[in-house]
Amino acid sequence: MKIWMAPAGLHIEPAQAGDEKALAQLHAEGFFRGWNAGDFQSYLRGADTPIYVACDAKHQIAGFSMLRISGDESELMTIVVGKKHQKKGLSKALMQAMFDDLLMSPVTKMFLEVDEDNQPARKLYERYGFSKISERRGYYPRPDGKTATALVMRADLG
Ligand SMILES: CC(C)(COP(=O)(O)OP(=O)(O)OC[C@H]1O[C@@H](n2cnc3c(N)ncnc32)[C@H](O)[C@@H]1OP(=O)(O)O)[C@@H](O)C(=O)NCCC(=O)NCCS
Repeated sequence: MKIWMAPAGLHIEPAQAGDEKALAQLHAEGFFRGWNAGDFQSYLRGADTPIYVACDAKHQIAGFSMLRISGDESELMTIVVGKKHQKKGLSKALMQAMFDDLLMSPVTKMFLEVDEDNQPARKLYERYGFSKISERRGYYPRPDGKTATALVMRADLG
């Protein structure tokens, strides 16, 4: 099994069947409209949607990220770290693991969408070489009924 080191005594490994509940819980912590366990069950079965979990030796999951791969392109579908595990470098370790895993693959670029007001995520992505290529107004629904603009960002790999 692939494994990458992470801070705080954790490591990163591929998600496993049975992780869907933990992934849905974390996703709901990070996003207004989280994906449910059924969504994650399908993603876990898909070879084109690898999920990477930051976890301890007992596979207790502190954060995760997910890609969708299509030919030479990948999309960072989501990345989330549980509130009590934030600011310890886990999202950086997840980004590193994904880039490392794609090194020997045909994938040459990665895209993502981020809420323009999400400063922590924007800082993280800029640090890993992502830059804005376009924006989508009214893209994200907000709890107050308003919407937020998504920035579409791209990074070249390798
Ligand atoms: C964004 C998120 C994944 C960062 O996870 P994290 O493990 O706490 O981040 P790290 O400790 O690895 O820090 C990575 C970088 O992110 C940025 N960052 C993280 N938290 C930050 C904050 N509160 N304010 C500003 N920048 C922040 C910094 O650039 C940081 O690197 P640095 O400390 O070396 O400057 C986390 O806040 C989260 O899960 N948020 C909710 C879900 C989300 O918004 N996901 C992204 C959606 S597109």
